[in-house]
Amino acid sequence: MNCKPGIYGVSTQSGRAFFADFLSKGLQSYGYARATEHGRAAVSCFNARGGIYLERPPNNIGEESRFIPLGMSSVGHSLDELLTRSDFIFLSHPSQHLEESVSLLKEAGLMQRQIPLVLTPPRTLAAPYLWRIVGENYPLICFSTSPYSAKALENGVYIKRRKRSWMVSLEGEVSEEQREQISEIFPQVLFNRVPATTSLGNIGAVFHPGGYLLNYDDIEKRQRQGEPYSFYMEGIAARPEVGELLEEIDQIRLRIAYKLNMPVFGLYGNDREEEWQAMMARLRLAESRTEKRDIQTLRKMRHECLSTIHNAIVSAQHWLDYSYGVARIPGESLANAVSRTPTYQKRSVPQRRYLDEDIPTGLVPLEALAKRFDIDCTAISRILDLYGEKEGKEPRASGRNLQPFTTEYLIRYLKGCPDEEMPDVSMPDTNSTIRSYL
Ligand SMILES: NC(=O)c1ccc[n+]([C@@H]2O[C@H](COP(=O)([O-])OP(=O)(O)OC[C@H]3O[C@@H](n4cnc5c(N)ncnc54)[C@H](OP(=O)(O)O)[C@@H]3O)[C@@H](O)[C@H]2O)c1
Repeated sequence: MNCKPGIYGVSTQSGRAFFADFLSKGLQSYGYARATEHGRAAVSCFNARGGIYLERPPNNIGEESRFIPLGMSSVGHSLDELLTRSDFIFLSHPSQHLEESVSLLKEAGLMQRQIPLVLTPPRTLAAPYLWRIVGENYPLICFSTSPYSAKALENGVYIKRRKRSWMVSLEGEVSEEQREQISEIFPQVLFNRVPATTSLGNIGAVFHPGGYLLNYDDIEKRQRQGEPYSFYMEGIAARPEVGELLEEIDQIRLRIAYKLNMPVFGLYGNDREEEWQAMMARLRLAESRTEKRDIQTLRKMRHECLSTIHNAIVSAQHWLDYSYGVARIPGESLANAVSRTPTYQKRSVPQRRYLDEDIPTGLVPLEALAKRFDIDCTAISRILDLYGEKEGKEPRASGRNLQPFTTEYLIRYLKGCPDEEMPDVSMPDTNSTIRSYL
């Protein structure tokens, strides 16, 4: 592996996780942080210590918490250095700031270099907005989710969990070589050239704003009292009525995808449950026959078994199945599936970004899309109205309301190039590959 991934936002929680992973894979990286108080503190800490501390909980491959030296990598506040030293730029901050960051990168000379931007994640319909800044078809690599569940530590990062698989839509002019390089860093991704998989695959928009706003008073009260609130367990699993509304939001997402003729799993009345069960049974059987530490075989097998869904939109319950291994029980409610999700049982703190990010880049564009397609979006509108009431702001005015785009353009964009082949990339059996799996 010899590509140089840069990071825009090395001080953020996931930016630190990317940086720690790039360093441990031996990749040369420049981590840019804004020169804010928070950004300066991170940069001076990593420079003073000469590296970053990575903390991991106990895990089944024995990945240890450890200090990772900077080596040939560095951190700082120079966009010029970021542009000169990067083959890719990972934007690792919440997605409502993407337009601002891309404008700053453009001012600093991005256009002359045509460096692909990796959006981790873009949330819903980021590219049309970003292409207004850097030109239609500028190369964008869109992760459906952050690869990590990560928390910033003073001197580094705590990676609580790594996702098992996620989708990546290649948007604009991303070359085959660039795709291979991303695949070498993250072998567990499922590539496609269908932007809807990440735009409509925005699971954060399903869980976060509704889960927060329907529990708003309790969450705020606990925060005032300095007491913890378990977002998923107390806010969703223990409140079936909240789960039901989130499920309605999820169904709107699936109906939009269905209208676009995308493959969909979990849509009421057309759930394709049998196909799903057969696919996951094949996967689980293959997994049970494979040595846990034989990560290369495991990865290949997961990739093969899940290839059916590489350009599909799946329900939140199905997503929990393939992302977190919470085996789908046909007909099970979302609240119940959440209650069985180990990572949500441990610690799930409600975060402001569930509103600040997922309202303008999730529910606002999903509501706008549903209206364009004449799909009932009452559940989403209810949450947006509740946001207006609780926060005193009109979310549709500043969020991604899709006003600049015609419906025809949006359909063409979302559908992308579904038939384009995504060849498999064979992976060397290295420790870094092993680490990137868990
Ligand atoms: N962390 C996770 O476990 C997790 C899990 C799933 C998904 N995600 C997703 O991953 C993305 C990044 O999340 P995160 O947790 O890493 O974010 P985060 O650390 O919570 O983001 C907050 C940081 O963003 C930076 N920021 C604020 N305003 C900005 C602006 N205008 N431009 C650029 N940066 C700005 C600030 O850092 P500075 O002042 O230092 O620049 C701030 O500390 C989000 O889309 C999130 O939803 C994260």
